[in-house]
Amino acid sequence: RVAVSDSFKHFEFDTTLKLLSSSSSLNSVPSKFHFTNERSAFPSDSLPIIDFSALVARDNPPQRSKAVHDLATACRDWGFFILVNHSVPESLMEAMFKAVKEFFSLADSEKKQYEAKSASDPIKCGNFNVANTSNQSFTLWRDYLKLYVHPTFHCPHKPQLLRDMVQEYTQITRKLALELIEAVCEALELNQRYVDEILKMESSFQMFATNYYPRCPQPDQAIGLPPHTDPGLFTFLIHNGVAGLQIEHDGKWFNADSPQNSILVNAADQLEIFTNGKCKSVKHRAVVNEEKDRISIVVANGPSGEAVIGPAAALVEKDGRAKYYAMKYEEYVESQLTKSRVDGKSILEQQ
Ligand code: SIN
Ligand code: FE2
Repeated sequence: RVAVSDSFKHFEFDTTLKLLSSSSSLNSVPSKFHFTNERSAFPSDSLPIIDFSALVARDNPPQRSKAVHDLATACRDWGFFILVNHSVPESLMEAMFKAVKEFFSLADSEKKQYEAKSASDPIKCGNFNVANTSNQSFTLWRDYLKLYVHPTFHCPHKPQLLRDMVQEYTQITRKLALELIEAVCEALELNQRYVDEILKMESSFQMFATNYYPRCPQPDQAIGLPPHTDPGLFTFLIHNGVAGLQIEHDGKWFNADSPQNSILVNAADQLEIFTNGKCKSVKHRAVVNEEKDRISIVVANGPSGEAVIGPAAALVEKDGRAKYYAMKYEEYVESQLTKSRVDGKSILEQQ
């Protein structure tokens, strides 16, 4: 296992954001943010680690098949893993953080044009979002920017660095996602046709998001993001060295800390559906802390928006039944965006 070092790089952050400027002078959390839920979690020492370089070592079949097997096991048992040796340059990750800091630091008047008008806008930013779970309504301790980046690229024109880096980072992570999908298919003995013709990965619907969680005077009173699962196949997450992501496993919560320069990967809803439940879409949440502002950069890699995703036919045949309904991916995304609750797995529980 890889030791989680405390030598994280801290990307210091100063911004003119409304949330920070008001929150930094607060001694307590205003009641509209109050979210009552458990936030304690077990340490992250037992999380699965996947070596990407072994996964793509096609010239070394025993090494590759072990990595494929490890990946399938991680997706089955945890729906989550830490990806190392992934080939995304450290300099690109650093530039990503610099770019999103520049965006969040823009004047409010500049950001206002990107404020969410409708749930499916391809560029949206916002703060003080209200969220609902089954039993409460509250405001998230978070600002965000969300972009649809593939097959059509959308990004604010300013800052230029953001445009350039998002383009580069999402292109490279799309390749990683494709390798992961191909490996999962190989492990489940699904041929390449599933990747090309069913998931239609060539026109993968890819979303980019960055979350900014200012330090919080009473971290146990507020939450960055309440428990939820993601749409898509695999979500990739990097952060600025400040821990905050927690994942659910066997009914318990674990801190998903990561070694420097690794990528946290979670299996998402369409992977669970497509594999007829063999991979698990993991529930996760983002907690806030008193000391440091946290930034996460998230890429959600889906199948094509046009793809109709249900359990793979070959698996339904083996398992004797389809455990999930099929649905066009863009309709699934739309239904997630417009539903009023953030918790639960919606259609994952229907069949
Ligand atoms: C997310 O679930 O989209 C983000 C979680 C995080 O910021 O750690
Ligand atoms: Fe998420």
